[in-house]
Amino acid sequence: MKSVEWNRIVTQDCVAGMRALPAGSVDLVFADPPFNIGYEYDAYDDRRTDAEYLGWCKKWMTQVRRILKPRGTFWLAIGDEFAAELKVCATGNLGFSCRSWVIWYYTFGVNCKRKFTRSHTHLFHFVKDPGCFTFNADAIRVPSARQMVYKDKRADSKGRLPDDTWILRPQWIPEECTTDDSLLVHSRLCGTFKEREGWHNCQMPEPVLERIIRVSSNPGETVLDPFMGSGTTAVVAKRWGRNYFGFEISADYAGNIERRLAEVVPIPEVREPHVAF
Ligand SMILES: C[S@@+](CC[C@H](N)C(=O)[O-])C[C@H]1O[C@@H](n2cnc3c(N)ncnc32)[C@H](O)[C@@H]1O
Repeated sequence: MKSVEWNRIVTQDCVAGMRALPAGSVDLVFADPPFNIGYEYDAYDDRRTDAEYLGWCKKWMTQVRRILKPRGTFWLAIGDEFAAELKVCATGNLGFSCRSWVIWYYTFGVNCKRKFTRSHTHLFHFVKDPGCFTFNADAIRVPSARQMVYKDKRADSKGRLPDDTWILRPQWIPEECTTDDSLLVHSRLCGTFKEREGWHNCQMPEPVLERIIRVSSNPGETVLDPFMGSGTTAVVAKRWGRNYFGFEISADYAGNIERRLAEVVPIPEVREPHVAF
């Protein structure tokens, strides 16, 4: 197989970029594409017809499947508008198996006056082979109510796996990664927050990526993001000892990601790789 120089952000269209990668070369893909809701990006127009948008999503998701290793994992973040269609495309057309349809609940959604304020994003956990994929349960356990509230001696001291509605509370996040102790529920990153880089409107909070990367990949493996945005996936992958790789169509964003990455100090993680069968 052609060897790839990982740990780079490439300023390029992700479909062309992924086509140039060898098949079966990546362990985990996380994708948070534009949602086709008219968001302002500096080099991408987020207003397409439904048919155009869905056709484009099928193209890039086809490449995601091709570059993933046989036991690889694909996490997709998507809004309400196209969640159902993209799930059908990924499973029905492309052959992924859906392990979980996670709802990430956040606070500080954009305030609405004549409908309910949106406070969630869909996170699909797809795998290529439902019989063999990485799932590091111990890396992402959270304290259980039995432990914390009822002080029940029978409670598993390792805690429990999170539910499929993610309400990321700072007390569940390792100390070195907690970015804002004052938040009870991990919120969307608003303009005034310390973690917010300030040059990208869709920056994902690092704890969301921490959970995804730690459960679905092992140290030394490769995590790819076709839509790097502010670079959260690369930052978290680097911090947890994974190779990162990704595409970003905006040269300005890509340059800013490199600056953000230069600040990241990897955390040593001593743990045996674990594959769920
Ligand atoms: C929703 S944002 C990703 C945000 C990212 N998850 C974060 O935490 O910052 C989508 C990004 O995809 C980029 N983009 C749009 N079309 C692209 C394409 N064809 N190839 C690569 N990047 C693209 C946009 O410039 C934008 O920065």
